[in-house]
Parts: sequence; structure tokens; C-alpha cells
Amino acid sequence: MPTSIHIPVLLHEVLDQLDLRPGLTVVDGTVGAGGHSSKILPRIQPGGRLIGLDRDPMMLAFAQEKLATSSPLPPAPFSLHQSSYADLAEVMKAQGLLHIDRLLVDLGLSSDQLADRERGFGFDAGGPLDMRFDTRAGVSAAEFLHTASSEEIARVFRDWGEEPAADKLAQAIVGGRRLDPVKTAADLVRVVERVLKIRSGTDLPVGHRTPGSHPATRVFQALRIHVNHELDQLTHFLETTLPAVLSPGGRAVVITFHSLEDRIVKQAFRNSTIWDMVTRKPIGPSPTEVRLNPRSRSAKLRCVTRK
Ligand SMILES: C[S@@+](CC[C@H](N)C(=O)[O-])C[C@H]1O[C@@H](n2cnc3c(N)ncnc32)[C@H](O)[C@@H]1O
Repeated sequence: MPTSIHIPVLLHEVLDQLDLRPGLTVVDGTVGAGGHSSKILPRIQPGGRLIGLDRDPMMLAFAQEKLATSSPLPPAPFSLHQSSYADLAEVMKAQGLLHIDRLLVDLGLSSDQLADRERGFGFDAGGPLDMRFDTRAGVSAAEFLHTASSEEIARVFRDWGEEPAADKLAQAIVGGRRLDPVKTAADLVRVVERVLKIRSGTDLPVGHRTPGSHPATRVFQALRIHVNHELDQLTHFLETTLPAVLSPGGRAVVITFHSLEDRIVKQAFRNSTIWDMVTRKPIGPSPTEVRLNPRSRSAKLRCVTRK
């Protein structure tokens, strides 16, 4: 088993906002490689319990290893489940749990998934363009690009990637299906570069000049959101599941990585009949964290308590 390369973002801020103490029941809805969870677990002992969820079995294997080796003595109770956080109520029911005290959701994908060339998350991935967190469900990104209409593809690029050249890119993908189909992440990057006439990062058309981001970032984000139904899951979770399972006085911390996610979280937490806002403004990374872990640069943390 390789070691995880993921660095947990806003770690101190998460631990601070969660306001941990012995005996609490904590859910990490996106446990990933267990970076945050391994620091939460000792802080809720004795008597506390951690439940970790992730859709990706590869990440659960990383988390199992990390939590088992970093658990305090005597070993602290934790359980890991292959599930979406959107299905947390079912996982809790199976565990005989009615309420939880703390919840963390750290959205997006981990550096381990990005680095795995077989998953299609990274630009240089040579393997199939899959992009599903849970490959047991739904269709891969390559299959979507191979079967959807040009209009559907353009809508995904526009709605989930805010991509200004959505129509042109979708037409190029559909037009190339017979002779030059998009099968890998590298194929998709080539189409984007060809359509946007990009030779280098300094040669970007208007609307694509975000410093530090590759022009294919938007379509990769859009496809990942689409094949995993990410925004529907987040909305359902924040509006229905979380208010029902978090005990009164319980705390929830959510970390987002782009404006579409953050808008949904901000909107849901604005409901003052359910939530008391702890963070009036979202917390971002310090310049030092961004320097040490550039992936953290777009992170925004919001925290609420259940009324
Ligand atoms: C940014 S990583 C979490 C990293 C983790 N906090 C750590 O410190 O190691 C996001 C994780 O969320 C998982 N994920 C994405 N959507 C999910 C969902 N709907 N339910 C559960 N896990 C999800 C991904 O598979 C990935 O492992």
C-alpha cells in the first residue's frame, strides 16, 4: 500500500472550529486519507467515536491504515464506510445512531486521486477518463462525452465549469467522436488546447486568464461534478440530512474549493431557523499554508452550530 501524499487543508482551523472534547461522536463525511480524522480521533478520547465516510474505496484503504497506526492507546473506536455523505442517515441507522455531535465535510478530491493516472482526474492521466469517485455507480466521463448530445455536453461545461467556450468545445468533442474520440484525460487536454488555440500558458484567450490555472481546469471540474452529481448531493445533504442528524448545539464544518460549492453552502447556512453562524466570513488558508500546499489556495471554511 503506497503512502498518501495528500496534505489536509486548514487543519488547525478545522480542529479549532470543531471545538472537540472527550466523548463526542464525530462524522468525517469525506474521510479521504484520514488526514483530518487522524487528528480528530485522539481529541475525542476517552469515550469518543469517529465515523468516516468516502465514496472511494481506495481512499478508505488509506484512511484505515492511517487511523489504525495513529490511534492512541488503548485503540480509539472508529468505523469507515463506503458511502456518500448524502447517505449519512442510512449509515447512522445501521450503526444504531440517532444523532451526532460534530460533522466535517472537506469537498473535492484528494491529491492521491489526482495523482492516480488510471482515474482520469489529472491532466496528464494516460488511463481512461473515468473521474468517478465510486466506479460502481453511474457512467464515466469518457462514456458521457461519447454518448451525450453536443447541447448536453455544452450545458455541463457551462453550468458546472463556467466555461466561456462551452459550445465550441462540445462541438469539437462530438465532431471528433468517429476518428479521434476522447478516451483519456490527455485526449481531452489536447481538444481544449486545439479549440482554444493555446500554445502556452501565456497565450490564453480572454476569459481564460486565471493565473496559475490550466485552461482545461474548467472542463475537468465540470465533468467531475457531473459524473459524481456533486452539487445535487451537497444540496440534499445540507438541506435535509444534516439538520436532521446534528444534535442541538452540534457543530458542522464545511470546506469548499470553488464558487459553485461555496454558494450552496453559504445559502444553506443562511437559514437562521436551523443554524447559528460561527464564521461570519469564510476562513481561508494563510500565505504560509498556500506556499507549502498550493492546493489549499481556493479553500474556504464555513462553520455553523445547530439551533
Ligand atoms: C479533499 S478529499 C478529503 C481529504 C481528507 N479530509 C484528508 O485529510 O485526508 C475529498 C474526499 O471526498 C471524497 N468524496 C467526494 N464526494 C464524496 C461524497 N459525496 N461522499 C463521500 N465522500 C466523497 C473523495 O473521494 C475524497 O477522498
